[in-house]
Amino acid sequence: MAMSCWQTDKSRVKLVLMKNILDFLACQKCLGELSEEKEKIVCKKCGSSFDLKNNKYYFTQVKKDINPSTDIKITDSKKWTEWRKKNFVFFETELKNIPFGSYVLDIGAGKAHFKTLLKNMNYLAMDFFDYEPINVVTDITKQLPFQSNKFDCLILSNVLEHVSEPQALLKECLRILKKDGILLMTVPFFIKIHQEPYDFYRYTPFCFEYLLSQAGFVKTRVENIGDIFDIYKVIKKELFNVVNQNLTKNIKSRYLRIIPRVFLKIFEISINTVFQIIKSLKIFTKAKKEKTNYSHGYGIVAKK
Ligand SMILES: C[S@@+](CC[C@H](N)C(=O)[O-])C[C@H]1O[C@@H](n2cnc3c(N)ncnc32)[C@H](O)[C@@H]1O
Ligand SMILES: [Zn+2]
Repeated sequence: MAMSCWQTDKSRVKLVLMKNILDFLACQKCLGELSEEKEKIVCKKCGSSFDLKNNKYYFTQVKKDINPSTDIKITDSKKWTEWRKKNFVFFETELKNIPFGSYVLDIGAGKAHFKTLLKNMNYLAMDFFDYEPINVVTDITKQLPFQSNKFDCLILSNVLEHVSEPQALLKECLRILKKDGILLMTVPFFIKIHQEPYDFYRYTPFCFEYLLSQAGFVKTRVENIGDIFDIYKVIKKELFNVVNQNLTKNIKSRYLRIIPRVFLKIFEISINTVFQIIKSLKIFTKAKKEKTNYSHGYGIVAKK
């Protein structure tokens, strides 16, 4: 069986960072042209100035209440959840349609863990927290600091649920995309609250269609990523963690604590096995609605 590509060796991947970033950037306030001065970029039109530190352009200061991701699992693909692996496959498939050398902006890129897929692109990463791979630090609920009609492809991976004004962001995405440019998004539907307080929405496919057409995108495709079995795995993991902690918290002896844990493990393995068997029987192909209406999340492709 072919090895899935999310298992590729990241250390060998060299990312091409866009060289002429200033040709793409614009003043966040008036979209005027910018010029670079010592540790600053200055708007030629309105005179606003923004910081340039360690090769990062700061259009906003990093807010104190952001809960940055410290999850090392994000960068180590071997530890990825089913959701992340399936996200990777979605982007891998869709990015095959984007020609090498295209200008790609990763919006809310975080630690840019899908960058292995973008090694042949002119890549730029943006976020409101200044993670190491981020080039442009800005709040995406505001006007995006880019000139219009500049990018071939935009990536929003697990970001739309964190944005208080999704409609305004999608309109901005349309503005900075070239004609026929592509927006690729993944958005979880079933996921715990995370990166609070910046976690605002869970969407349905109908909502994506609505928001994207209202924003002016001409063609939209929404596909399910993950199914009811993936959701079950997520709930089961959380549930067993909670039960495990509660079951043993009043038992003083380290050795006695092992007994309920062993029983719990046996129980967990047994139901895992039952579900594996049920899944292999493929009875859910008959129960199509249960399969599709319980999607773990969605992959969306929209064209300008
Ligand atoms: C769940 S993480 C996803 C990160 C990455 N795209 C991924 O798929 O792993 C959401 C990202 O959106 C960023 N984000 C949330 N709200 C934002 C905002 N208003 N402006 C800019 N970035 C934001 C967060 O800092 C975080 O890196
Ligand atoms: Zn300006």
